Amino acid sequence: WIASLIGLAIAYLFGSTPTGYLAGRVLKGIDIREHGSKSTGATNVLRTLGKWPALVVLLVDVLKGVGAIVFARWFYAWFYTLPSVTPPTALDLQTCIPWAVCLAGLAALLGHSRSIWLNFTGGKSAATGLGVLLAMSWPVGLGAATAFGVVLAIFRIVSLSSILAALTAIALVCGLEQPLPYRLLVIAGGIYVIMRHRANIQRLLAGTEPRLGPQPRMES
Ligand code: G3P
Repeated sequence: WIASLIGLAIAYLFGSTPTGYLAGRVLKGIDIREHGSKSTGATNVLRTLGKWPALVVLLVDVLKGVGAIVFARWFYAWFYTLPSVTPPTALDLQTCIPWAVCLAGLAALLGHSRSIWLNFTGGKSAATGLGVLLAMSWPVGLGAATAFGVVLAIFRIVSLSSILAALTAIALVCGLEQPLPYRLLVIAGGIYVIMRHRANIQRLLAGTEPRLGPQPRMES
């Protein structure tokens, strides 16, 4: 249990790395949470700081998700090599470790949107979620990324693309044969990402959600 908690805490810290916030501070001396959609994600970095900072933030935010899963897998394997720890049982290998790794993925999502460094504010966890998906099962991650790209190309609305990518990931993980912990991770994570887009959904329904490209000022 202690190993699980340590793994979760470190995965949360991976997600908490305030990439978009740091970009705003370093490049323009601003708090990005006071601009645009107030999110620290790459989309708000794009509208506030420009293309290249947004690309870097996007890449790092995806890598936070990948890193959390890679770390968790390594950490739980390493834990069982400690001399004072009993070697893993079949139950540990088949059940406990896969659950712990999946929970680490959720912890990374939580960290991105509720960062310990930003008074528990942050982004909407779509990019970090993609990283988690790619690290857990690349076909599901690739499917979600493809859905994102297609919707973005058609509508040029990032939030709509993120929401439909999350729904695609849920559909894929339910359709493809995947282990139960991973299915539940993707369903819970997908619902979480969609819930983080509540304000976007209201703007989408009102027809006021900004598209990529030049746009009028946003109020929230
Ligand atoms: O991943 C976040 C994106 O889907 C929406 O970002 O800044 O437009 O709320 P934003």
